[in-house]
Amino acid sequence: MRILLTGARGQLGTDIALRLSDRDEVLAVDLPEFDLTDRDTSLGMVTQFSPDVILHCAAFTAVDRCEAEPETAWRANALATRFLADGARRVGAHVVYISTDYVFDGTKAGPYLEWDRPNPQSVYGRSKLGGELEIDANWSVVRTSWVCGEHGHNMVKTLLSLGEGTKPLSFVDDQLGHPTFTSDLAGMAIKLGRERVPGTFHCTNQGAVSWYQFARTVFDLAGFDPERISPIMTTDLDPPRPAPRPANSVLDNFAWRHHGFVESRHYTEPLRELLAALQG
Ligand SMILES: NC(=O)c1ccc[n+]([C@@H]2O[C@H](COP(=O)([O-])OP(=O)(O)OC[C@H]3O[C@@H](n4cnc5c(N)ncnc54)[C@H](OP(=O)(O)O)[C@@H]3O)[C@@H](O)[C@H]2O)c1
Repeated sequence: MRILLTGARGQLGTDIALRLSDRDEVLAVDLPEFDLTDRDTSLGMVTQFSPDVILHCAAFTAVDRCEAEPETAWRANALATRFLADGARRVGAHVVYISTDYVFDGTKAGPYLEWDRPNPQSVYGRSKLGGELEIDANWSVVRTSWVCGEHGHNMVKTLLSLGEGTKPLSFVDDQLGHPTFTSDLAGMAIKLGRERVPGTFHCTNQGAVSWYQFARTVFDLAGFDPERISPIMTTDLDPPRPAPRPANSVLDNFAWRHHGFVESRHYTEPLRELLAALQG
């Protein structure tokens, strides 16, 4: 297959690139060489390469910076997706757009289904929802959460460096979600692209936890003392973070499961693998 991969140097993009077959013809792009907010760059790239599938992982993911730089967020997350979609329609490519739990406001009492109404509370969430709105009904939207992997910055890496210190630490215990590992998410996104499966899918690892519980689990499995970590509430954060986070980020993988696809693993399994890779 001819596959165009955007965000190829990001956390997810790097792991997708590693998992594509040698038989695939892959064009892997990222900043600074390819700025997808430039219409000529995006359209020209898609029409010249003429991919079967576009795995669109590129995004402006710095959630707090999005509040201060909304134009950058809207251009990277929504407008760039419009340009890619325009190209995809011209060449008949299937687009897989990676989206986020932040499209929800987090007030639902239970896990979010794919058909629950989005109501993003941050610039990042609104601009990512803007990207979803550029996606045709016969393409795929993959909503995921709390992404961690071997490449790039994420909470597991932050915790490993904090673990080396001795200071007491606190993490919020009133925001729940599914930690999701690029090693597993990559395969889910590739499958939806290869099989041209239409629709919105919640794709996460299994096991809902608060950040506090997640931090303690990482410490425990990494050989650090989890008792150094105490729970706090979001309102205790000083200073408060610029972008509001959904209190409930729990995404039910309902569509994935009921399509008959194999459910992803409990998050502790890929977490153990990641720790083994990072700790050598
Ligand atoms: N990280 C999470 O916890 C999380 C949670 C839910 C959903 N997601 C979604 O999952 C996807 C992958 O996330 P990730 O963690 O792999 O993100 P990431 O590591 O930040 O990678 C995104 C990549 O896109 C690039 N990019 C940004 N603006 C661009 C532009 N204008 N043109 C071309 N490339 C551009 C970035 O380059 P620079 O680094 O140079 O900016 C970066 O290499 C994203 O769609 C994200 O919204 C992530």
